[in-house]
Amino acid sequence: MSTTLVTGIAELVTNEPGLGAGPLGLLRDAALVVDGDRVAWVGPAAAAPSADGRVDVEGRAVVPGFVDSHSHLVFAGDRAAEFEARMTGTPYDGGGIATTVAATRAASDAELGARLRRLVAEARAQGTTTLEVKSGYGLTVDDEARALRIAAEVTPHTTFLGAHVVPPECAGDRDGYLRLVTGPMLEACAPHARWVDVFCEPGSAHAFDGDEARAVLAAGRAAGLGVRLHAGQLGVGPGVRLGVELDAASVDHCTFLSDADVDALASSSTVATLLPGVEFSTRSPYPDARRLLAAGVTVALATDCNPGSCFTSSMPFCIALAVRELGMTPAEALWSATAGGAQALRDPSAGRLAPGAKADVAVLDAPSFVHLAYRPGVPLASALEL
Ligand code: NIG
Ligand code: FE
Repeated sequence: MSTTLVTGIAELVTNEPGLGAGPLGLLRDAALVVDGDRVAWVGPAAAAPSADGRVDVEGRAVVPGFVDSHSHLVFAGDRAAEFEARMTGTPYDGGGIATTVAATRAASDAELGARLRRLVAEARAQGTTTLEVKSGYGLTVDDEARALRIAAEVTPHTTFLGAHVVPPECAGDRDGYLRLVTGPMLEACAPHARWVDVFCEPGSAHAFDGDEARAVLAAGRAAGLGVRLHAGQLGVGPGVRLGVELDAASVDHCTFLSDADVDALASSSTVATLLPGVEFSTRSPYPDARRLLAAGVTVALATDCNPGSCFTSSMPFCIALAVRELGMTPAEALWSATAGGAQALRDPSAGRLAPGAKADVAVLDAPSFVHLAYRPGVPLASALEL
């Protein structure tokens, strides 16, 4: 395997406190050696070892590639009209998911795969190197299994979300649909999935209550899948504490939280994943990141890229929102978008640039990571192709 020396790094974020300053393990005038798909060495440029090849980033900042731990990228169709209606006051309630389900069922495997690959390339061009992808727009045994098969072609982080909503044809038989999800659908999907997820939102006519969510997650766990869930998006509910009880890797959204939810997260290893692009795209109040951080909760940031509640693939955009609207510091937001996401996926090889970690490197066309929030909307970040 050949080695490459990346040099000319004005500022290197390692996310390894022992390697540099502060929680980001920050080094200035640094270099990095990559051996195959792994980081072999990081340190001051003056002490860099020799390598087979050399890439000079000419005074740019280098950060771990972003870990987008929450996306719904296997879908067809378009919901721009729903977005437009929201911007004139129509609230988001998950009802539009059925539109995407109909379009996704009607699409061919080739169409779904091509759309997915375009979105993955779009994310990578903005610095994302690890991506979780959910099913959830098929909602039949065959359509969910094919969504996961297609997702597994682009990422190992695949999530079975048969319990996204009750599909229209099962509207009169929620229990029957739950039996399908926890039985034949799970059996067909588990071989292609690492995680099980559920949209737990008792106030919504479309999603699932606490007991229903518990049944889905318990069945998924019994089938060998890790647990994660959507909770607290539209109101306070039982989902956050259920996630903590079931040792979920992450509870996602966390926009509406009770004090008991925050306490439960703080005394657990469950990550709270915030998705501020959703609040931006649904004109909703933002989650309170400072409340979570003050309590000692591990916070991740992700896009939730999907055609309904938030159609952005841009982690830099989410970082800028987290700094401006969630009150996070630029350093906290970058950590949450990299190391935080890796914890939310329980993948210690991602989200950091230290010997042994994956060589997932993002380069910024800027001298410092602070520019991610300082220059919102400017395409500074991209995955470094080595
Ligand atoms: O994470 N809340 C549930 N699911 C997605 C939205 C899906 C959609 O609207 O198509 C979310 O926001
Ligand atoms: Fe989601």
